[in-house]
Amino acid sequence: MTEWLQCIACSSKFDVAAVRYFCDCGALLTVERDVAVLRNLKAQLPARNASFAPLDQSGVWKFREAVLSLDPKYVVTHPEGRTRLYSRPSLSAYGGVENLRFKHEGENPTGSFKDRGMTVAVSQALRLGSKTVACASTGNTSAALAAYAAQAGLRSVVFIPAGKIAAGKLAQAVGYGAECLSIRGDFDEAMALVQESAKRLGMYLVNSLNPFRLEGQKTIIWEILEELAYVAPDWIVVPAGNLGNTSAFGKALAEAHAAGWIDKVPRLASVQAQGANPFYRSFQEGFAKPHKIKAETLATAIRIGDPVNYEKARRVIAKTKGTVTEVDDPAIMAAKAEIDRSGIGCEPASAASLAGVRRLVSEGTIKKTDAVVCILTGHMLKDPDAVMAQGLKIREIDATMAAVEKALTRP
Ligand code: F0G
Repeated sequence: MTEWLQCIACSSKFDVAAVRYFCDCGALLTVERDVAVLRNLKAQLPARNASFAPLDQSGVWKFREAVLSLDPKYVVTHPEGRTRLYSRPSLSAYGGVENLRFKHEGENPTGSFKDRGMTVAVSQALRLGSKTVACASTGNTSAALAAYAAQAGLRSVVFIPAGKIAAGKLAQAVGYGAECLSIRGDFDEAMALVQESAKRLGMYLVNSLNPFRLEGQKTIIWEILEELAYVAPDWIVVPAGNLGNTSAFGKALAEAHAAGWIDKVPRLASVQAQGANPFYRSFQEGFAKPHKIKAETLATAIRIGDPVNYEKARRVIAKTKGTVTEVDDPAIMAAKAEIDRSGIGCEPASAASLAGVRRLVSEGTIKKTDAVVCILTGHMLKDPDAVMAQGLKIREIDATMAAVEKALTRP
């Protein structure tokens, strides 16, 4: 076996082509392989980065041996990834740390990091012979699923919380042709319902409890390490909802460290919205138990009260000597305004990362001299209503030169 599924609790192993999301003991699964695979991959990356071959063009599949080994005929790639790393003096000043960079995952084909996981999960669905792929979503997963399923010729079904998904995301899911079930309930109810439905109706589930999703999302970290010439930053800061990224990032860092890519593991900071903070509550109690709450936040992407990847993420925070913090909606929206005004732009949930940095610096957890990378998880256009709610003035004027002059030369 070159790759296998493995239980995070009892270490039971299963065939990589088994349709299962949990171990018999009930715990989550990961995809595992020999660490030598990643070690040997490093030397290949410069040639792949310069290549125009479709698999090399993808920031996910250029790492293919350490993501998922499968026949290229199954690979559904847009391509995705190869997003950029930005820095802006205004944002460094706002965060309170000079060496601050932003990995903009909103630059993916459907405008969020979800494409990195979805290319892998939908490819695996083809390999398994699934005809229908399904997910519950606060919006971005549904947009990515709809796009990749359309490309693969698969039926896609998305369960979304009625009235709580941003306009751009809903338009994408509908436009790419997903069957959208608007659930009269919140994300957590939709998540429970889609798991039951997948089992009963034989649909392949591609939420982040699907371990293949997380294999794709690892590449966010590996790209950052490449871009930083394999000098690990001190902190990586990520908005946290269902805790898929937190889990994937921990795995990516552990694998990169074991493969000798980096000589120290950066600390991971997961940032939750105050109204959707079950992971933060558990962290405050030394992870004595998972919390379930009724979530509410303007950052609808992370409006999640019962994260499915709790067990994986808890271990990651412990292993990376990381931290979990919370920021309230005004802090998220203020950070978003800064990111938007810097010319980069992001959706509200993404801005939790910068708001989190600002808080952690003010508390002394992150030092002003630390090197920090924030993940911007989604594009500004995902949630146009959140931009307009910032109260910026649009002035409607008559179509005359006099009106233009009056508007632009008189305060
Ligand atoms: N940021 C954005 C823009 C998201 O869409 C999500 C999750 C997160 C952060 C949180 O990431 O779940 O890995 O902790 N969105 C999911 C969805 C739940 O359905 O689109 P996480």
